[in-house]
Amino acid sequence: MVLSLAFKKPALKGTIQVPGDKSISHRAIMFGSMATGTTTVEGFLMGDDCLSTISCFKKLGVKINITEDLVTIQSRGEDAWKEPSEVLDTGNSGTTTRLMLGLLAGTSFHSILVGDESIAKRPMRRIIDPLREMGADIRGREDGQYTPLAVQGTQLKAIDYTLPVASAQVKSAILLAALKANGKTIIHEPIASRDHTEIMLEHFGATITREDHQIKLEGGQKLTAAHVKVPGDISSAAFMIGAALITEGSTVTLENVGINPTRTGILDVIEQMGANFELEEHDTLGERSADVTIHSSKLKGIEIGGELIPRLIDEIPLIALIATQAEGTTVIRDAEELRVKETDRISAVVKELTKMGADIEATEDGMIIHGPTALTGAEMTSYGDHRLGMMAAIAALIASSEVVIDDAECISVSYPNFFEQLNLLTTRLS
Ligand code: S3P
Repeated sequence: MVLSLAFKKPALKGTIQVPGDKSISHRAIMFGSMATGTTTVEGFLMGDDCLSTISCFKKLGVKINITEDLVTIQSRGEDAWKEPSEVLDTGNSGTTTRLMLGLLAGTSFHSILVGDESIAKRPMRRIIDPLREMGADIRGREDGQYTPLAVQGTQLKAIDYTLPVASAQVKSAILLAALKANGKTIIHEPIASRDHTEIMLEHFGATITREDHQIKLEGGQKLTAAHVKVPGDISSAAFMIGAALITEGSTVTLENVGINPTRTGILDVIEQMGANFELEEHDTLGERSADVTIHSSKLKGIEIGGELIPRLIDEIPLIALIATQAEGTTVIRDAEELRVKETDRISAVVKELTKMGADIEATEDGMIIHGPTALTGAEMTSYGDHRLGMMAAIAALIASSEVVIDDAECISVSYPNFFEQLNLLTTRLS
């Protein structure tokens, strides 16, 4: 789908509830499938990635029922999963592919994971290396670096492992495998990444210890079904936050946005840039959430790096866009992980924003943006990457002429009603 957007520099007004958190939605399906009993999930993200996770578990024999406001998972526990007679298709989802590897490694059967073209280029050894240390039998192209991957389930043993990259996907794959391993697994996490897996393990009745950058989990623990409330995804909210910030006269409220501290780097960044916004926190257990009200703001350039990066890794395309409207220079460093996301997000962001007239250059591990610059219309490419597609659509709000986006349907990977909600907040979309 090629989409043509021409806005007359609208002000954004109104209140919306962004769709459910992608990371938490995936995990809710996985944990509900591992646990014994009936798990119910409220606020589940009906995006393509999470639907891929559901389809994989259905092929393992788990009963999953979807209605408009509830996903129900009925499972007799992980040991009742059956050997799939078809390949498990993870679509565009890195989280599904990587976390499933951790889960499948400790089964008693054979399975094959395959994803789309983008998944086929993403590195898997970061997952497979620690799993092999646990005894896993996984094979794939280039010694297991790339999908399709064949997993022969086996009895796993615990490991003591230091994460070489700050990746929640690697950490989570090991934790999920550790649940079925003999012994106590210890993970050392030099830089904190999102901790939804740790929170959900406790929610489903497991015991996990976390202190001094160390996570410890004893194998052989069984999970019990639970009710999961998924808050709105801050990574989706970020696009509407950015939209309100860079358009004149805007005030937008986003209800029930997840504000787990491992995910709120975007709020720290906009605060430092001088943004005008308020949070009203809800009284919740487990995953924290808040209503976020955001006003158009005059922004200034800042430096972003170090431990902040994993807390905003998925928001960098949007941050680059808002930096084009900030006074002064924004430097993003220590973000080399962007090169192995759905696409190489350093090259893609720089290339696309340059087309619109931004003053932006790529570095090895990030980018440098000089602002403010007026943006013009352009023919934009999403590279099939949902976050690039949304960055282009938000940029269109302030472009002086028409913006055309190819392959805009990829946005449904994480934000299926993105255009509907943008339409609600703006006066019109053409
Ligand atoms: C995710 C972890 C992050 C993030 C991805 C979702 C997760 O990936 O970029 O969108 O749900 O665990 P990495 O673990 O590769 O950093």
